[in-house]
Amino acid sequence: MKPLRIALTKGRLESSAAKLMEGAGLDCSALRQKGRRLILPIGDSLEAVLAKAGDVITYLEQGVCDLGVVGKDVIMERGGRFFEILDLGFGKCGFALAAPAGADFYQGYQGKTVATKYPNVAKRFFQSKDMDVRIIKIEGSVELAPLLGLADGIVDLVETGETLRENGLAVVEPVAEVSARLIVNAASLKLRKREIEDLAAKLEEQIHT
Ligand code: PRP
Repeated sequence: MKPLRIALTKGRLESSAAKLMEGAGLDCSALRQKGRRLILPIGDSLEAVLAKAGDVITYLEQGVCDLGVVGKDVIMERGGRFFEILDLGFGKCGFALAAPAGADFYQGYQGKTVATKYPNVAKRFFQSKDMDVRIIKIEGSVELAPLLGLADGIVDLVETGETLRENGLAVVEPVAEVSARLIVNAASLKLRKREIEDLAAKLEEQIHT
């Protein structure tokens, strides 16, 4: 049987995933010494594919990878047709609405503008509050937008809160909790149910030790 293919989000999530899989008894030595290679064996039964977060979902949806490790932030923003089967417990952070420290974001009647890398997440958050907010998509370092006078606030990921603090911003309200998730292609879950469930069970046991 060919190995199950697992797409890992390159970077921090990839190394946390390797640590978790090693703890579960899987051989991640090739992944640890990967050089520039993008497809690496994990023992005999798994193969890691290293990809950018959004692409992890694309490869899974297109059926060329069976499993994926991706942040809930990307899942919430991008959506897609796959099953989310396990909270992996690492990559923990949160989405929050933030604004200049001391400012009352909700005060006043004029329309608010919010900058974000995650327009769908922001849209849903304000819809749930029945607020009509103008949303501007920014590619990175979203904290700049209120500092430059472009936005009243931001919806962004907050981990330690350091970036907000150092730029004179503060959390107004948490939006959602985020962590890495194990996702599975629907067809793979049917065709290779046993192997996938075995792997998920091993990882889950490791998360709880
Ligand atoms: C994320 C996020 C914040 C920062 C939060 O940025 O967008 O800027 O991390 O972390 P902290 O609360 O620990 O300071 P990332 O490093 O992903 O870069 P980018 O937003 O510029 O893409």
